Amino acid sequence: MTLKDIDFASKTVLLRVDYNVVEDGKVIDEFRIQQSVPTIRALLAKNSKIILVSHNGRPENGYDKKLSLRPVAQVLADLIKKPVGFVDDCVGPEVELEVGKLKPGEILLLENLRFHKAEEKNNYNFAKSLASLADVYVDDAFANAHRPHASMVGVPKFLPHAAGLLMQQEFEKLTALLNVPARPFVAIIGGVKISTKIEVLKSLLNKADTVIIGGAMANTFLQAQGYQIGKSITEKDYIATAKDIIEYAKQNKTELIMPTDFVVAEKAQHGVRHRHVASDKIESNDIALDIGKETMKSIWPIIKSAKTIFWNGTLGMAEISDFAWASRDLAHMIALRKNDAETVIGGGDTAAFISKLAMRDRFGFVSTGGGASLELLSGVKLPAIEALMSK
Ligand code: 3PG
Repeated sequence: MTLKDIDFASKTVLLRVDYNVVEDGKVIDEFRIQQSVPTIRALLAKNSKIILVSHNGRPENGYDKKLSLRPVAQVLADLIKKPVGFVDDCVGPEVELEVGKLKPGEILLLENLRFHKAEEKNNYNFAKSLASLADVYVDDAFANAHRPHASMVGVPKFLPHAAGLLMQQEFEKLTALLNVPARPFVAIIGGVKISTKIEVLKSLLNKADTVIIGGAMANTFLQAQGYQIGKSITEKDYIATAKDIIEYAKQNKTELIMPTDFVVAEKAQHGVRHRHVASDKIESNDIALDIGKETMKSIWPIIKSAKTIFWNGTLGMAEISDFAWASRDLAHMIALRKNDAETVIGGGDTAAFISKLAMRDRFGFVSTGGGASLELLSGVKLPAIEALMSK
């Protein structure tokens, strides 16, 4: 079900968004808030009363001021140029009172759902209380679609429900990569840990024509091939997995590309002396911190001829600007292809990196979902999407 399938006229809508963007009392990235605006506008156009709910962070013991969603209300109000009310809880009498006062076209943001343990436990009564606030439920929290929590999978059991515009777009864009990619399809997967990316790597090795490996994850792959990696980050327990993945690529006849050179230093810090070395010249005190120029040169023709490009995970230790070169270079390469290829950027750190470069509009699609997009691309059914599809 999508927004088109439901009559929203003057209805009270419980809109589940993912505003997991507040750290230490500040909004650290507005991207997810911006991406929720089209659905909010669509509901306002129908004169709905909107109740926004979201989680933020991983609070351990109930209320935690630093994880309050309160700062989001002002950011959203500035984006939509309309007041956004806020209540200090997400269920209970005070919330019911404020919801009761809502007029068509007004918006109320409720406090962090995870201040109630019942949210993560998918507690029946908690879901029922949330549902009792509204006439209709809309889920636009794609980035949280892999979490089987009360506001994601419990509430739709009680209310007519539909996917929001962002949820719908994320699902369509990402599943199109698996189902009908224009070829050649190139996937670039970076980041630190193979352990979190095994399933997505396997899935992409099944679907893509070429998979390029970067990030600290590449070190484990190099080790699996017998290279010395000095003091570089590695996951020793996953060397066998890396070998399996290399074998899997061979069986699927998918080109699997590893870096052939690196930027290395003895410390992972800004301003440290660093060298460019081939992958077989890494010394015992070296830490591989970025991918080298030769590798990036060899990647360009592949990116240049691709018709579908998916990128998730930075290629080096991009949080230190000295070692963000290869990731920046790749961002520019992919951006150059925007008009001739489907260019999709995975959420999480990669989307944050792109935001920092102020390059978000230079790609076909930037996902808001970190874990959720990887799970979807792994071929796993996401609980929230299943819940939306159920009657
Ligand atoms: C995310 O940012 O990936 C989602 O909001 C889910 O957050 P979580 O990993 O804390 O469940």
